[in-house]
Amino acid sequence: MKKTIAVLGGDGIGPEVVEQGVQALDAVAARFGHRFEYLWRDCGGAALDRHGTPLPEETLAACRGADAILFGAAGGPKWDHLPPEQLPEAGSILRLRKEFDLFANLRPIRIHGPLGEASSLKPERIEGGLDLLIVRELTSGVYFGKHDRSENEASDLMYYHRREIERIVRVACEAAMKRARRLTEVDKSNALASSRLWRDTARDLVAREFPRIELKFLYVDNAAMQLATWPRQFDVIVTENMFGDILSDLGAALTGGLGMLPSASINNTGFGLYEPVHGSAPDIAGKDVANPLATILSVAMMLRYSFNMGAEADVIDAAVTRALDAGFRTRDIAAAGTPASRVIGCREMGRRVAEMVAA
Ligand code: IPM
Ligand code: MG
Repeated sequence: MKKTIAVLGGDGIGPEVVEQGVQALDAVAARFGHRFEYLWRDCGGAALDRHGTPLPEETLAACRGADAILFGAAGGPKWDHLPPEQLPEAGSILRLRKEFDLFANLRPIRIHGPLGEASSLKPERIEGGLDLLIVRELTSGVYFGKHDRSENEASDLMYYHRREIERIVRVACEAAMKRARRLTEVDKSNALASSRLWRDTARDLVAREFPRIELKFLYVDNAAMQLATWPRQFDVIVTENMFGDILSDLGAALTGGLGMLPSASINNTGFGLYEPVHGSAPDIAGKDVANPLATILSVAMMLRYSFNMGAEADVIDAAVTRALDAGFRTRDIAAAGTPASRVIGCREMGRRVAEMVAA
């Protein structure tokens, strides 16, 4: 099968990690006889410097013509002085999400192979593994509401329409039906009107369309505590944009850090943008020490969700686990006892995984 992928490395470690994602795709192409064509384009702060905008028209055009987007990261200290609406993050990734209506953000929180040692949790809390899915609403809520700022006043509007909640809850229910059929809706309905609409909408929709799902509700503050102490109680979590942003970083800590966490952002046609949850990490950019696994796992999600290549995705997932089982670690996931010879760089980790995809 032939597929075209827009590759937007962006800033910081973005370009390094997407390169390794592409290595994994090439290994899949060779093994399964597919053809992947890559449209490498500028975005983020790098594009702002080069073209005067974080999302140049030719980048957008490439995304429109592609079957999927692979995104690295956007932003960094160099641009932090800009007003919020001109920041590379707002002008690239947030715009892309809106542009392609990528409302459904899937963030699987899984502990891979032997990585329990890198978890922030005590071993007994994750015994039996960890496998939950955060479904985050991605194109509405407070990040996209009206922002106002004057010298001494500021406000950001957290707005939701029932339709926006229904469609994301439906995605979460469909995922839950393929898993343990347990869904937790997370909100702050003891304080926010929008959260009360979320809770009512989720309750109605599950009763109407997915009566076999066990639905629970949690306040977001309590959800954070539950995640940090007893994450195995969760199967699928569905929540609004900002709560999902915050809880997914917490989820990352449970699995060994942001370096391991992939994500898929999809619309209702199955078109998607795939990106690691971590940011541009400017402090380690260009040093070949970044962890490419979150991006490689995001590529596996691309195969699974946008290209319907489940077997190919499984091969990448298994290759990541095998590389970890063989003891290889990037710096961020290395434990105190990891032999120095097994602590490898971004490129070598990418190469190891690609070799294991091939074999
Ligand atoms: C994420 C990031 C983004 C977000 C930023 C870069 C705007 O934190 O994908 O989690 O908040 O959505
Ligand atoms: Mg985030």
